[in-house]
Amino acid sequence: MEKRKRDTQWGMLLEHTKERLGEKAFSQDYVRACRILEKRLLDMNEKAYAQLGRELISSVEWRVKTPESCVNKLLRKGKRPTLENARERLNDIAGVRVVCSFLDDIYQLCRRMAYDYEFEFVKQKDYVKHPKSSGYQSLHLIVRVPVGEGRKVRAEIQFRTQAMDFWACVEHHFVYKGTGEHGKRVEKELRKCARSIYRIDRKMMSIRNKMEEENALSL
Ligand code: GTP
Ligand code: MG
Repeated sequence: MEKRKRDTQWGMLLEHTKERLGEKAFSQDYVRACRILEKRLLDMNEKAYAQLGRELISSVEWRVKTPESCVNKLLRKGKRPTLENARERLNDIAGVRVVCSFLDDIYQLCRRMAYDYEFEFVKQKDYVKHPKSSGYQSLHLIVRVPVGEGRKVRAEIQFRTQAMDFWACVEHHFVYKGTGEHGKRVEKELRKCARSIYRIDRKMMSIRNKMEEENALSL
């Protein structure tokens, strides 16, 4: 097929897919999944508060990936930008972010969600034990969420501490703006910051543990 015709067909496919991805009929199941997960997490937080006297979660946010971003990710993965591929290949069209104060709380919440009978476990990626080359740390959990009428959609839940969240937001901002000629140095500095953050997270947890022990002894 002549190149110009192929380009036009490709452009039409891209536009068509973006349009369909933007329709409520497509996105509503993902919105529903996010709301279900958010509710479950907030319920767990309430229970934890009743049992421990402290909250596990400091914030829960969610978003549904934009059509533009879905299409770009499919292209990055070398997949044809179709609605079916978006459904089957993308784990994070529905994305929930859970921020906690303490390192052990992210593991505890992730475990509870992974074992929750309501959701189907797909996979877990531990970027805390195995940070990404950028230095990025978080615990990622992929689950399938029932959204009604027998339908299930996949969602990605990111669990991180406030310190990890701070790092990820600043790093994202730097990368988005472009690090230019200082690229390599900035990347190195950011990896160093990520390691410091891990040390601080562990320290904060040990301070809390000591305080809890002392409080228990003084009862
Ligand atoms: P699959 O979910 O398995 O398809 O892989 P993926 O391509 O989505 O990659 P991954 O799950 O590892 O990471 C996806 C999300 O994690 C991104 O959308 C970001 O929110 C976050 N993330 C991953 N790496 C980085 C990083 O280096 N910096 C920042 N700031 N965020 C990152
Ligand atoms: Mg992902």
